[in-house]
Formats: sequence, C-alpha cells, structure tokens
Amino acid sequence: MASLTDNSTTKSPSTLRYIQYDPSREIEYLTAMRQLISKDLSEPYSIYVYRYFLYQWGDLCFLAMDSNDKLVGVVVSKLEPHRGGPLRGYIAMLAVREEYRGQGIATRLVRMAIDKMIERNADEVALETEVVNTAAMKLYERLGFLRSKRLHRYYLNGNSAYRLVLYLKEGVGSIGANYDYPVPIPGAPPQTTTPQIPAGGSVV
Ligand SMILES: CC(C)(COP(=O)(O)OP(=O)(O)OC[C@H]1O[C@@H](n2cnc3c(N)ncnc32)[C@H](O)[C@@H]1OP(=O)(O)O)[C@@H](O)C(=O)NCCC(=O)NCCS
Repeated sequence: MASLTDNSTTKSPSTLRYIQYDPSREIEYLTAMRQLISKDLSEPYSIYVYRYFLYQWGDLCFLAMDSNDKLVGVVVSKLEPHRGGPLRGYIAMLAVREEYRGQGIATRLVRMAIDKMIERNADEVALETEVVNTAAMKLYERLGFLRSKRLHRYYLNGNSAYRLVLYLKEGVGSIGANYDYPVPIPGAPPQTTTPQIPAGGSVV
C-alpha cells in the first residue's frame, strides 16, 4: 500500500507541528499525554500501560503540538506478530483536544503511525472502538478499516466495540487470524471474558 500521508486533502492546521515521540523528553511528553488521554477515558490507564507501549514502540507514537509547544493530539500504537501469523499494527490510544477536533488532526496522526508500520513491513492494522464513537468510526472507515467483529460489552463500562482491521497487503486477510485474541499487557489483571485493555476505543 502506498504511503497514507501522501493525501493532500488533509484539513490539518498548518500551525501545528507533528512529531515522533522522543524518549529523552519522557517526563514532559508522558505527563501531557496522560492528561490529554485521561480526559476522555472511562477508566484511566496506569503509567505502566503507557510505558509498555512507549518503551517498545516509541517510534509508533506521534504527537501534534501547537505553536506554544502544547500537546493537542496523540496516537500510541504498537507492532508485533499476531499469533505467529501476520505482522499486526495496533492503534492503542488516540485523542485530540476537544477545541481542535474536526480539523483532520487525528486522521493525520493515524496516517503517520500507519505509514511507519508500512515502513516496518506491517501486514495489517487493528484496533477496537466503541460502537457509539461516531467520529472514530468515520475516521477509521474513511482510511479503509473494515469491521471485522462486534465485541459485545467489550468495555468495562458495558459498551460494545467494533474490531476494525486495515489490510495493508493483498491476501493477508485470508491468513485466518482469530480476532478474538485479547491484547496482553504486563501487570494488567488476568483476562476474563472482558478484555482489560480498553485499547483506544474506551477513549470517548
Ligand atoms: C476521535 C477523535 C480522535 C477524532 O479527532 P479529530 O481530530 O476530530 O478527527 P478528524 O478531524 O481527523 O476526523 C474526524 C472525522 O469524524 C467526523 N466527526 C467528528 N465528530 C463527529 C460526530 N460527533 N459525529 C459524526 N462525525 C464526527 C469529522 O467530520 C471527521 O470526518 P470527515 O473528515 O469525514 O468530516 C476525537 O474526537 C477524540 O479525541 N475523541 C475522544 C477520544 C476518542 O474517542 N478516541 C478514539 C478512540 S478509538
């Protein structure tokens, strides 16, 4: 698949700076990210969840900063083989400050993450989002994500989710991956029928 950032129709404001996460600025960035993401979370992620993603896949985390160097948007993701099969990217967290929404910022951040995954030879990208999250559904489906499964009462707040998958290579979708497989997080309580990581999708 061609680079997703080549699309010139983006509405993203030009005064913003889009940068890759820089581990040498962990304290500053992590504090700002947690503040931004926790505003929209039904349950806040622990610092260990952030570190799980950022320590291993900091290059798949992108930030949008305003002219005062204030964080206005963030995407956190990872990339690893899925059950010995396809190399799967996973969008774990995505949030844009309320007053900046509807300007294409999240679209641009997600595209940057996907482009990086493509660079690293990803086969597909997956995520979950609440079925009622219209903005997220619209954004992801516009980027080509397909609904792979409806997950009944997936989140701890009782809401259901869609698992969305973007296939990056011809034929990879037919490998037979089982999308019921929950994402393990070190230090998280044991998995029950409800996955404990409300990856991205509980951010509403
Ligand atoms: C989802 C979210 C990240 C989108 O950020 P954003 O920067 O506004 O996204 P974009 O501007 O790139 O695109 C959003 C799309 O949704 C549409 N949209 C936004 N709000 C909407 C709403 N309430 N109803 C329907 N569509 C909506 C926009 O029109 C746009 O689609 P378009 O380009 O076809 O017009 C942002 O709303 C947010 O931070 N929400 C809280 C956290 C969250 O839900 N994260 C996603 C978890 S999977």
